[in-house]
Amino acid sequence: MKPARILAIETSCDETACAVIENGRSLLTSTVASQMEMHARYGGVYPEVASRQHVLSIIPVVEQTLVQSNVTLKDIDAIAVTRGPGLAGSLVVGMNMAKGLALGTGLPLLGVNHLEGHIYSSWIYNAGESVPTEPQFPLMALLVSGGHTELNLMTDHLTYRRLGSTLDDAAGEAFDKVGRLLGLPFPGGPSIQKAAEGGDPNRFKFPRARLDNPFDFSFSGLKTAVLYEVNDLKKKSKTLPVEDLAASFQSTVVSTLFDKTMHAAREHGAKEIIVAGGVSANKPLRTVFQTQTEFKVNIPAFSLCTDNAAMIAAAGYYRHALGHESGLEMDVKPTWPLS
Ligand code: KG4
Ligand code: ZN
Repeated sequence: MKPARILAIETSCDETACAVIENGRSLLTSTVASQMEMHARYGGVYPEVASRQHVLSIIPVVEQTLVQSNVTLKDIDAIAVTRGPGLAGSLVVGMNMAKGLALGTGLPLLGVNHLEGHIYSSWIYNAGESVPTEPQFPLMALLVSGGHTELNLMTDHLTYRRLGSTLDDAAGEAFDKVGRLLGLPFPGGPSIQKAAEGGDPNRFKFPRARLDNPFDFSFSGLKTAVLYEVNDLKKKSKTLPVEDLAASFQSTVVSTLFDKTMHAAREHGAKEIIVAGGVSANKPLRTVFQTQTEFKVNIPAFSLCTDNAAMIAAAGYYRHALGHESGLEMDVKPTWPLS
């Protein structure tokens, strides 16, 4: 049977990305043109710069992806694109490119929710490699990105029940804000991870929020605790122990994410766990999930943790194949879960 080949485009934030995937999981090529260095000088993503850069990069990125996949548009069965959530000016560039491709080729166009994409990134493998097992439902999905932190019970493909989410900052946002506090380069996640390598995670005892719903998250208290500690040390004219602060902060976030996910997975009889989104690139987080649980844990390859189009192609494939189309309007604030 001819493989269903999806070309996907993702431009929700500061990465211009395109990918081709077969049958929802087998990755031919994933191209990501990162604007990270451009935004680093502003200490965060500058939306106007991001959309202008997408305009410059989108055509070369799509062309390069087709060439590297050794296919032409004639070999593609559908076009998928991120419809939200994300920065409006960034999303619109990808949406228009995808619409143009669909119009020009007559191929179906699939609008994909970015968060659902992150979840589907965990089952992708490189074409030609051995095929990992199919997901076993019910499963517990921890989604940890720059904008979202959620626990979703997934009872089938495309079927989610949100058990909890963050009441304030997302995990990635907390990494970014604390990174800035400690004078580390943007984005804070990888910078804190690097600084923490030489630090003592037990030097500072930072608080963990106690919440009515045990599956909700809150990281703003933790961020404030780091701020007070930094201010206190500065007042005493002490050199900031950046490594110890980074290690103590990181270990508090990691243990919070791990404990809540384990609690939810056990309580809901999950067969597997998924950890996805940009923060799933964090090494201590990956290690604790890979070594400290009785569950099978799916974590995307490093290159698929942060934003990419392979995950959009994967989620688009399942929405298309299972007949759950998710709409084509640009959606800056979509409701989630989508079921
Ligand atoms: O999923 P993503 O690329 O974009 C959103 O959808 O938000 O996630 C970006 C977030 C940023 O906050 C970044 O600091 C965080 O993921 N991140 C990390 C690591 N790599 C990226 N956080 C902790 N450790 C990392 N190694
Ligand atoms: Zn993302």
